[in-house]
Amino acid sequence: MRAMVTGGAGFIGSNLVDRLLAEGHEVEVVDDLSTGSLGNLADARNSGGALRFHNLDVRSGDLVDLVRHRRPEVIFHLAAQADVRVSVERPVFDAEVNVLGTIQVLEGACAAGTAKVVFAASGGTLYGEPTGADLPVDEHQPHRPLSPYGVSKKAAIDYLVAYRELHGLEFTALALANVYGPRQDPHGEAGVVAIFAGNLVAGRPCVIFGDGSQTRDYVYVDDVVDAFARAMRRGGGLVMNIGTGQETSVSKLYESVAKACGSNLAPRPAPARAGEVQRSALDPRRAGLHLGWKPWTALESGVASVVNHVRRTAL
Ligand SMILES: NC(=O)c1ccc[n+]([C@@H]2O[C@H](COP(=O)([O-])OP(=O)(O)OC[C@H]3O[C@@H](n4cnc5c(N)ncnc54)[C@H](O)[C@@H]3O)[C@@H](O)[C@H]2O)c1
Repeated sequence: MRAMVTGGAGFIGSNLVDRLLAEGHEVEVVDDLSTGSLGNLADARNSGGALRFHNLDVRSGDLVDLVRHRRPEVIFHLAAQADVRVSVERPVFDAEVNVLGTIQVLEGACAAGTAKVVFAASGGTLYGEPTGADLPVDEHQPHRPLSPYGVSKKAAIDYLVAYRELHGLEFTALALANVYGPRQDPHGEAGVVAIFAGNLVAGRPCVIFGDGSQTRDYVYVDDVVDAFARAMRRGGGLVMNIGTGQETSVSKLYESVAKACGSNLAPRPAPARAGEVQRSALDPRRAGLHLGWKPWTALESGVASVVNHVRRTAL
């Protein structure tokens, strides 16, 4: 198939590009390299597969023309302002990229006759602060995001639903948990596994905010990429959680990364960060039903892969 991946030079996007090329698809990457890098596409460029790169902002008016001209059959829309803290500081910028950028992608898809858009939604912010009884949260929980980022990603889902109704453009929205794996930016906000691994491999101590009991659902990037690949042909019209259903505390995660690094450095405590969700986990059963997907990478082996990647790239 002819696939377009917006945000294809980023952490998840570049791993998806590798997979699509390995499956023999033609891949067009659209990325403005604001947080991604061409380095992330090194394997893709060396693969000999059919890859084209377009250095373009999804907010640009040229995007609709590009999509119309390239006529992708499927668009994976991952380009986003993906940092919750940036969204709080710059909500207008966040909405420009995540809402207006998404509308441009959808306009391009309609103009090109694209069959489907697969969207990277945010399961960690979509449902707000779940109560313990709701965990792991399933897709029936109300959407009540608490940050501008969560709101803009939710608005994008609303547009997907509206375009399906109005124009018959099919979509699947994957509500991702906390994704981790090789190529994650250790300086980003969500990449705690990469941050811990980067510091511990370099012999630097790590900071844990709050008492370390806050939980997240860590899902490995290969498993996430597999969900995207499956969503190319299945799961139309649905929002689906992509997570493990398991809560892991930050303290437990730290132990796991420290063990993989062979480090006995103690973490440094710091005050809890305002506005942080205390607990998070996503029920992945709908994705099991509609995509035949389930997570299969155990945290220990995923963490070991990240540590190996950090060691290799630190050389
Ligand atoms: N990493 C996670 O845990 C996680 C969780 C939930 C949802 N998501 C979503 O998954 C997607 C990918 O996230 P990621 O972790 O790979 O982040 P990333 O920052 O590595 O990737 C985003 C990519 O989009 C590009 N980009 C940003 N703004 C752009 C613009 N205006 N025009 C064109 N390209 C632009 C960046 O250069 C980058 O390559 C995002 O939509 C994010 O919101 C990620």
